[in-house]
Amino acid sequence: MKLDDILNTDSKAAVSPSINAQSMLLDMRIKGQDQHYEIHIGDNALGQLQTLLKGRRCAIVSDDTVWALHGKTLCQALQLHPEAYEQIENWGQVHNETLCLSPTSNECLTPTSTECLSPTSILCQSSDTNFNKLLSISVLPNGEGSKNLEQLTRLYSDFVRAGLTRRDLVIAFGGGVIGDLAGYAAASWLRGVSFVQIPTSLLAMVDSSIGGKVAIDLPEGKNLVGAFHQPKAVLIHPQFLDTLPVRQLRDGIAEMVKAAMIRDEELLPMILNQFRDLPQNQSKDSPAKHNRSQPTQQISALPEINALLKRALSIKKNVVEADEKETGDRKLLNFGHTLGHAAESRGGYSVLTHGEGVALGMQWITRLSEEKGLSEPGTSAYLESALAQLGFETAPPLDFPALKDWVLRDKKMTESGLEVILIRKPGEGYVYPIASKDVDVFFKVNTPDLI
Ligand SMILES: NC(=O)c1ccc[n+]([C@@H]2O[C@H](COP(=O)([O-])OP(=O)(O)OC[C@H]3O[C@@H](n4cnc5c(N)ncnc54)[C@H](O)[C@@H]3O)[C@@H](O)[C@H]2O)c1
Repeated sequence: MKLDDILNTDSKAAVSPSINAQSMLLDMRIKGQDQHYEIHIGDNALGQLQTLLKGRRCAIVSDDTVWALHGKTLCQALQLHPEAYEQIENWGQVHNETLCLSPTSNECLTPTSTECLSPTSILCQSSDTNFNKLLSISVLPNGEGSKNLEQLTRLYSDFVRAGLTRRDLVIAFGGGVIGDLAGYAAASWLRGVSFVQIPTSLLAMVDSSIGGKVAIDLPEGKNLVGAFHQPKAVLIHPQFLDTLPVRQLRDGIAEMVKAAMIRDEELLPMILNQFRDLPQNQSKDSPAKHNRSQPTQQISALPEINALLKRALSIKKNVVEADEKETGDRKLLNFGHTLGHAAESRGGYSVLTHGEGVALGMQWITRLSEEKGLSEPGTSAYLESALAQLGFETAPPLDFPALKDWVLRDKKMTESGLEVILIRKPGEGYVYPIASKDVDVFFKVNTPDLI
């Protein structure tokens, strides 16, 4: 299909029949490992929690926005007493810190014990085979600013107080920040405890919750401290998307566009079909200042949403299954990320969201590669037109000197040079090495200020 045809397609025709009603299952099998895990997508996905927790205790990690909006749903999925959520909420308002329950007694281990909850009041309704010990609930400030050493240390302290052992389970309940942070805490705690991903943002549902990359940021750069630690399962409940503000929704859309560009040309018309008419971002606030009052629309009611989530996830699944540790094709998932991370880091994570950085990075690198004859003519216009229809801003000219320090600190940089991901034509990404001595030449130098 020609590029113009794809962009002009009434993409309804390109979409597979609706299968929204049922839950869907993807089975993730990492090459060369016995271990595999399931990704459940759909309204029944949270029903898997009880099976996963059988005989285990758990520590929940979430952020304040997600917990306020959806903590109750998680409590229900855990089959806690109906009043449990209210009790936990009231407790949280009084103390604004981690709720930490004693695994062995009815004591609450939080420092201010006078008003604390009795653990028995939030135990399971059924006391027999299912899990019946909620060890702790750590609710962190929302936003990228929490993906740091300070919050990691806080989680370790919570785990100590809660008595989290290797037999127990961490539940990462939130967007990509919580998934990365709680996942890294789980990876490093006692040399590794199991964790379950319950992603609540679109970005986390289609990208960050699968694949096992977990990390925290340092002031010097994004994701510099991390590990590969695969979750025990990923449970995707699309109804969580109904409260996601449009700016955060677009972050997930950017990662879906990335997936389409590197591997699946036909995914882009599907994305456009579902998300072309979204309202403009209502807030240019710092990404850290999350406004709960700007939900997008009933995303979970979109006819193809489950199918779309599954298709986008399948791309990442196939890539990661073949190359868990990013020695080959997994690098393709970094399309747009080298320059995108640099722009995001340079803004101190408070100017651009992750998806906005990636959208800029994809545009810059594709412009460059087309100018150099490394992409088919029209690829850059195709990408930029799709992003514009999805409500992304057209990237300003690349100011490489302003980003260079951040790029050189990127994990993709080695002593011999840098590997960038280019798009030969939509649906076909490839790895392109740039020798250290050629980095400046490749990223032609411009001057206008970027952020
Ligand atoms: N590990 C990986 O493979 C991988 C891949 C891509 C991105 N990431 C990481 O993911 C992070 C970005 O993830 P993100 O965009 O989900 O950010 P996020 O976790 O900060 O979530 C964005 C905002 O949306 C809010 N939110 C989440 N779910 C919500 C819901 N259902 N309703 C209302 N608000 C909700 C959060 O509270 C937060 O304020 C970055 O740190 C990035 O580095 C990791």
